[in-house]
Amino acid sequence: MIPPTTAQWIIECGNAKTKQPQPHRATLNTSTFDSLKLQKDVAIPPLQPNECLIKVLAVSLNYRDIAIPLEKFPSPARSSYVPTSDGAGIVVAVGDQVTLHRVGDKVCTLFTQHHQKGLFKIAMKKSFLGSNVGGPLRQYAVYTETGLVQVPQSMSLIEASTLPCAALTAWNALFGLEGRKVSPGDWVLAQGTGGVSLFAAQLALAAGAKVIQTTSSDFKGEKVKTLGVHHIINYKTDASWGATAKTLTGDEGIAHVIDVGGEETITQSFAAVKEEGVISVVGFLGNPDGQSNPDLFGKIFGQVAIVRGIDIGSREQFVAVCKFMERHGNRPIVDERVFGFEEAKEAFGYLREQRFMGKVVIRVADDDN
Ligand SMILES: NC(=O)c1ccc[n+]([C@@H]2O[C@H](COP(=O)([O-])OP(=O)(O)OC[C@H]3O[C@@H](n4cnc5c(N)ncnc54)[C@H](OP(=O)(O)O)[C@@H]3O)[C@@H](O)[C@H]2O)c1
Repeated sequence: MIPPTTAQWIIECGNAKTKQPQPHRATLNTSTFDSLKLQKDVAIPPLQPNECLIKVLAVSLNYRDIAIPLEKFPSPARSSYVPTSDGAGIVVAVGDQVTLHRVGDKVCTLFTQHHQKGLFKIAMKKSFLGSNVGGPLRQYAVYTETGLVQVPQSMSLIEASTLPCAALTAWNALFGLEGRKVSPGDWVLAQGTGGVSLFAAQLALAAGAKVIQTTSSDFKGEKVKTLGVHHIINYKTDASWGATAKTLTGDEGIAHVIDVGGEETITQSFAAVKEEGVISVVGFLGNPDGQSNPDLFGKIFGQVAIVRGIDIGSREQFVAVCKFMERHGNRPIVDERVFGFEEAKEAFGYLREQRFMGKVVIRVADDDN
């Protein structure tokens, strides 16, 4: 039966307590997520012919989900919106013209709803979930059929909820540039042990590449070793970790660098990359204050490498990474703590503390398999 209403979390824009960057705290702190509010009994809109209603089972968090309410991320001015970028659930109703999904299908949301295939276009940003288009942090949500992708059979919905941004971004970085797809024997440098970098490590290893992973935590480093990565470098204790990575390759250099730190890490990425290698500029975790790196242009010009900005990926690529993971038996790494729907603020705070490993997931409903 189709419910008339849903509960949902919303973010009220402009209500964040401060625009100043927040220091990382030793204990869980959720007070800055005051702009996150739980609404009950929100009417579900009638289905259009090409739309599906999904019962959301799980949502995974991405750094942008906390960066937007902390006002560290450019987002369109709206009075309020349903946050989060990734979700997985079950189709409970379909419009008359839907052909891609049936009632009962398990599906993931597509982050860039309008990016179906081919190259990314800036205009597609208006279809980003969890900002421009309402995200899945709600019990029921309506999306266009092309904005949903079938969940890999081998995965639970908790696991599948981690795929839409992080796995697709890692896939795009490693396989998205024609002529530069990761190949067996290539060296890959994945920075940190967050969602994108762990997927990058898994995908690269499955493709026969060799992986160097950085982390600020020796404890996390030990856990990552179990994935089969070849070397771990602690980027807090090794100030020249980019050069160290290159040395570990026998001075060959890194074919694919997954750069998540932006301005703070790009210089080290240049120290690590090989000639004509690819640095995928994915994130901005190391640039909380927005300082610029004045030397950047000289580095790009002097290094002879490909520096490629990444914006998630297309539906076609999402289908491809799901198939690849199925074929190679890859399972997403979900942090040991999974939050309840009512604990969304705690989950956002937990992500901010960076004590997790892999993906932080909110279980929206209990009937996952
Ligand atoms: N361009 C795109 O399409 C795209 C898509 C997804 C994400 N992103 C961006 O990519 C970045 C990573 O996303 P994510 O989802 O993987 O984040 P995440 O899951 O929140 O990852 C956080 C981890 O990154 C590592 N880290 C933090 N600061 C670092 C630094 N200065 N240098 C190196 N590593 C650092 C830490 O690993 P340790 O704890 O091991 O030190 C931390 O635990 C974010 O900025 C996000 O907004 C971009």
